[in-house]
Amino acid sequence: MDTVVISIGGSVLVPGENDSKYISKLGELLTDLSSRLKIYSVVGGGKTARFYIRLGRELGADESFLDEMGVQATRLNARLLISSLSGKANDHPPETVEEAFELGKSHEIVVMGGTTPGHTTDGVAASLAESVKADRIINATSVDGVYTKDPKKHEDAEKLDSLSFEDLLNLTQTSSWKAGPSNVFDSMGSEILARARIPLLVVNGRDLTNLAAAIKGEEFSGTIVGGED
Ligand code: UTP
Repeated sequence: MDTVVISIGGSVLVPGENDSKYISKLGELLTDLSSRLKIYSVVGGGKTARFYIRLGRELGADESFLDEMGVQATRLNARLLISSLSGKANDHPPETVEEAFELGKSHEIVVMGGTTPGHTTDGVAASLAESVKADRIINATSVDGVYTKDPKKHEDAEKLDSLSFEDLLNLTQTSSWKAGPSNVFDSMGSEILARARIPLLVVNGRDLTNLAAAIKGEEFSGTIVGGED
């Protein structure tokens, strides 16, 4: 049985339209797939996290405190996904990767949010993928792959079908940490995946048919990182 870690962006899970309908369908999909795959899912904070981080920053909170608020938002979103999984997942989001690893021994699906300040849920997903020896990690995001530039801002951005781990490291290297959104994948997560050589599949998480194909390891539309390894 393959083990898969899915990093679901908060902006994919709760974009503000049709939220419960989408989450319910995603829950059905994961429940269905859990009979043939071991599934771990890490949920992002999306607009709830951004809202609290922005307000806290205006009020003078430091970056670590803002990160903590972001983590709380990710756990709130994780509880929404848990609600849709008909008892197949853990009841409460684990607070560490080690705890998630342990929960994996007794649950068909494990759902969590963030852990500690200084990274995003992508980093948590990569760390979990290394710890559970995942066969692949899926980044279910709001764009349909990795682009040469931000496709929401640049019309001439081109989609990349495949990248090496080294390309990913070049795209995600940052000099300093700040609470709030990252782009393709966070730098800590990229370093872990490059070291552990775990392929990363970047897909639009709102397209559930395509997301299902990526989770199952079948042909999908998006970007694959480290697929040649
Ligand atoms: P996200 O993982 O949601 O980041 O965490 P994101 O890049 O905004 O992703 P989307 O939009 O959901 O796809 C939200 C914030 O929470 C803090 C960080 O400040 C992050 O930007 N956080 C999250 C942590 O500090 N540690 C964690 O483990 C997770």
